[in-house]
Amino acid sequence: MSGTERHNHSDEACSQGSSEGGTAGQELGAARTSRPDSTPHVGIVDNLLYLFTEPFGIVVDPFGGGASTITVCKKRMRRYWVSDRKVPEKLKHEIGYREHDLVAPDGTVTISGPSRWGDVQLVYLDPPYWRQAEGQYSSDPTDLANMPLEQFNAALSGIIKGYAGKLKAGAHIALLIQPTQWKADDRGWPVYHDLDMIAAAPKRLRMKYHIICDLSTQQSNAQQVDATKETGELLVRSRRLVVWEVV
Ligand SMILES: C[S@@+](CC[C@H](N)C(=O)[O-])C[C@H]1O[C@@H](n2cnc3c(N)ncnc32)[C@H](O)[C@@H]1O
Repeated sequence: MSGTERHNHSDEACSQGSSEGGTAGQELGAARTSRPDSTPHVGIVDNLLYLFTEPFGIVVDPFGGGASTITVCKKRMRRYWVSDRKVPEKLKHEIGYREHDLVAPDGTVTISGPSRWGDVQLVYLDPPYWRQAEGQYSSDPTDLANMPLEQFNAALSGIIKGYAGKLKAGAHIALLIQPTQWKADDRGWPVYHDLDMIAAAPKRLRMKYHIICDLSTQQSNAQQVDATKETGELLVRSRRLVVWEVV
């Protein structure tokens, strides 16, 4: 493989990483075995790809945001189906980054992905952290960050269930989410979205990991620290990563 040649292995226009020099054999070896990146966030995605996918497998990310999943898929030679309800202006040039709103105006969940669901090895879900991100991405009612909690739970659990119904046994769904504390209705009672989603997960999903991710600046911002100083409450400052296997 040479230069920035792009290979399309499916008529679904699933995109796959470009390569910069080196032989295909060397690149494939590196894509399979290189140790995961340890930087926050990118590191989490990189670890997930390392653990749960193989070169040329498809990764689906419907909350694409800043497109770190595309970056990691290119590095590891995975095909990807990445979308967001609004593709950021600076990423509009990114081939294979689609626009798709998971929630229709009437509240119905519509999931997106390639029709070759059998090739999908991982669905990575990094939704807005509910009210912590309210108004941050948009002011639209279908943006998960702007929904009342009940609607947020229904939408997110519907999304998880929708993907669970599409994937073949052995594929994985990963959810990265932070409990909501300083913007919850009652700061003394953090909302543990991870636990809500674990409780709502369909039987088809068997939980493999429920882990606390390393502290990063994203996990305790200045407002959280100020809020807990004010109230004397304990600070919940971790994100949670839940990984289910489809059985
Ligand atoms: C936490 S960010 C994702 C960050 C991303 N993983 C990255 O690497 O930058 C959450 C994203 O979810 C998107 N989003 C919110 N509601 C959505 C919906 N109903 N359908 C699709 N995307 C949605 C937002 O636009 C935002 O970009």
